[in-house]
Amino acid sequence: MTGAADTPVLRVRDLRTHFTTGLGVVKSVDGVDLDVGRGETLGIVGESGSGKSVTALSIMGLVASPPGRIVSGTIELAGQDLRKLEPAALRRIRGRRMSMIFQDPLASLNPVLRIGFQLGEVFRHHLGHDRRRAVSEAERMLKAMDIPSPETRVRNYPHQMSGGMRQRAMIAMALSCQPELLIADEPTTALDVTVQAQVLNLMKEVCRERGTALLLITHDMGVVAHMCDRVAVMYAGRIVEYADVRTLFRRPAHPYTAGLLRSLPRLGGNARRLASIEGQPPRLTALPPGCPYAPRCPRVQERCRRDAPELVSLAEGHQVRCHFPLDHAAEAA
Ligand SMILES: Nc1ncnc2c1ncn2[C@@H]1O[C@H](COP(=O)(O)OP(=O)(O)O)[C@@H](O)[C@H]1O
Ligand code: SF4
Ligand SMILES: [Mg+2]
Repeated sequence: MTGAADTPVLRVRDLRTHFTTGLGVVKSVDGVDLDVGRGETLGIVGESGSGKSVTALSIMGLVASPPGRIVSGTIELAGQDLRKLEPAALRRIRGRRMSMIFQDPLASLNPVLRIGFQLGEVFRHHLGHDRRRAVSEAERMLKAMDIPSPETRVRNYPHQMSGGMRQRAMIAMALSCQPELLIADEPTTALDVTVQAQVLNLMKEVCRERGTALLLITHDMGVVAHMCDRVAVMYAGRIVEYADVRTLFRRPAHPYTAGLLRSLPRLGGNARRLASIEGQPPRLTALPPGCPYAPRCPRVQERCRRDAPELVSLAEGHQVRCHFPLDHAAEAA
């Protein structure tokens, strides 16, 4: 393939995923573009209900259908269009070339199977290892995740491990086939702060080492600052700002991003959760005409309520979907 070196690991264009519900069509993801390169970490940040998880599930081909449906867009893994694949071909790619970890490891682990067996299953299923070799690979993975006495741990059931250890086991499982892409959806939200930091550091280290592209979903700006190279800010099913992490924190251009940053208290802890922008995210079945942030935006003007803003480029790698972005002049100068 020509130009393979600059083909991103993940390339998403104009992704739209809608749900048909009793209240109407929910446009959970409504025209999302994303690129994640080898060894890069892209954060998706936004309040609850903005479409982060549905974006991730769409990429993985795991949207429950019905009620959900990808209505348009392309999703390419290393240049290959995943939407064109048969379900069986997609299943072979999932877990092997791209994998996902969720907020609650208990929901993804089988409570009645030993950790070693579950981890080993990935090796048996995708790589065809025999049982013995699969368990020893599982042990090796747990060790790589800094889990002490992995030879004992492989015999544990999920409930015999702490939350942090379970999430490390999940990361081990997700990374076991050395996927090109890892999607982590709020992977440490359920953990306490110290354990959060350990698990995140480990994930970052392992992904960097192996060149894994990481798509990290979070509502925690502290996690963004710590982990991400670039950030996509999502609101009401759309990306409203893309920036590298420095620019995002120093010169946010979208009023919503600025609001998220203002809601970030000085100290760490659970208080870092985004809760304090005034007003509610809009109902996705009844989006107002114009900018969906208008009812909450301190910079709103008449034009905002009339015309939906397009994504425009402010500088190399910095895009915003707003008629009246902040600090525009300063950056352009
Ligand atoms: N299975 C579903 N049926 C109907 N609506 C859904 C379903 N899954 C998600 N949604 C809707 O899609 C929107 C985005 O959800 P989600 O991606 O989970 O948000 P986030 O992860 O950013 O908190 C929400 O309004 C949610 O209610
Ligand atoms: S377009 Fe208008 S309402 Fe929307 S974020 Fe920008 S200034 Fe605020
Ligand atoms: Mg979510």
